[in-house]
Amino acid sequence: MREPPPAIPGARLLFSLDPAVSYLNHGSFGAVPISVQRTQQRLRDEAESNPMKFFAQGLEDRVTHTRRHLAGFLGADPDGSALVGNVTTGVSLVLQSLRIGAGDEVLMTDHGYGAVALAVRRQCRRAGATARTVAVPLTATHAEVAARIRSALRPGRTKLLVIDQLTSPTAKAFPVRDVAAAAREHDIPVLVDAAHAPGMLPVDVSAIGADFWVGNLHKWAFAPRGTGLLAVAPPWRRRIDPLIVSWDQEKGFPHSVEFQGTLDPTAWLSAPAGLFVLRTLGVDQVRAHNAALAAFGQQIIGEALGCAPDDLPDPGDPHVSMRVVPLPAGLATTPPEAHGLRDHLADQLSVETAINAWGGRGYLRLSAQVYNRPDDYLRLAEHLPAFLRSLQR
Ligand SMILES: Cc1ncc(COP(=O)(O)O)c(C=O)c1O
Repeated sequence: MREPPPAIPGARLLFSLDPAVSYLNHGSFGAVPISVQRTQQRLRDEAESNPMKFFAQGLEDRVTHTRRHLAGFLGADPDGSALVGNVTTGVSLVLQSLRIGAGDEVLMTDHGYGAVALAVRRQCRRAGATARTVAVPLTATHAEVAARIRSALRPGRTKLLVIDQLTSPTAKAFPVRDVAAAAREHDIPVLVDAAHAPGMLPVDVSAIGADFWVGNLHKWAFAPRGTGLLAVAPPWRRRIDPLIVSWDQEKGFPHSVEFQGTLDPTAWLSAPAGLFVLRTLGVDQVRAHNAALAAFGQQIIGEALGCAPDDLPDPGDPHVSMRVVPLPAGLATTPPEAHGLRDHLADQLSVETAINAWGGRGYLRLSAQVYNRPDDYLRLAEHLPAFLRSLQR
């Protein structure tokens, strides 16, 4: 039996999570450390003490300073990146800026995030283009993933490839650097959906070599929700067209994207406090703890459900802090069923998880974060089999 990692003492006390709930779904919406919540509240208080001063004097410098800090952490060009509210926003921004035309196609994989696929489909529908999906087996190695995607590219026709750095329904790391290199051979632009990467994976955005890369800091980098970073390769920067036109439109990227009227910038400005927490705990220590705990959780819950070791997908990167366990056949095979089961499980067993339908099968996704303990997973392993049996009766 795999041993769980030693706990990081005191780390749980940094969060305001309900102690009665096993919170095994950091991946969906993150959890903001108390110190970061306080930082944001202090910034809101500052804004309310004199809104005119807060918004009209020096805000651009503060936003730029924050962006440089966050981009530096991620290895992105600080002046070729823009703060955005989230990955969803960054994806739509890129799709809008690309000017996809009739007869073009946008290529994605069948592991892509649902809302991203919807955005791609809408853009294609409007343009008379095609949204095409390449199937990637759950067990594919990095070389197989790269080969599949490479052979699905249609030079001249594929106007964008959207690829995840770490997938949401299947918790699978994709070899984004190799894939970007393959697409570059054919001059096909690549957008990396890196929603889960910041904080969890050691990221060097510039080394990936994608045309566009967008990640969330509000998942694994402990930032307040509403903190994303969009990095854009030099040739595209002048072509980035903000979704909303505001006063900084003429300044060009990144200011035209970052200034969107009277939006609350306090999440962005507080994000460095999230990185401070991560660094104080020790980035490497946090990553090692979380990845080992997720692997432990997958193993014991998988065993409890009668899965053979080969049935438990390996994420393909040692830093991944989310793992999936296949549910018994016939359960959670559609998104509504999966979400219903997730909510029912939360109500009945006081455990928050993600449950997704993928490829006609239901998958339970477990996250691990510094506030989780082996007991959280052991308790689920003890009660989940009977809970699922009660549904099948
Ligand atoms: C792979 C992936 N892409 C995109 C998103 C969207 O992130 P957001 O809702 O912050 O825009 C998520 C959210 O979980 C995700 O997992």
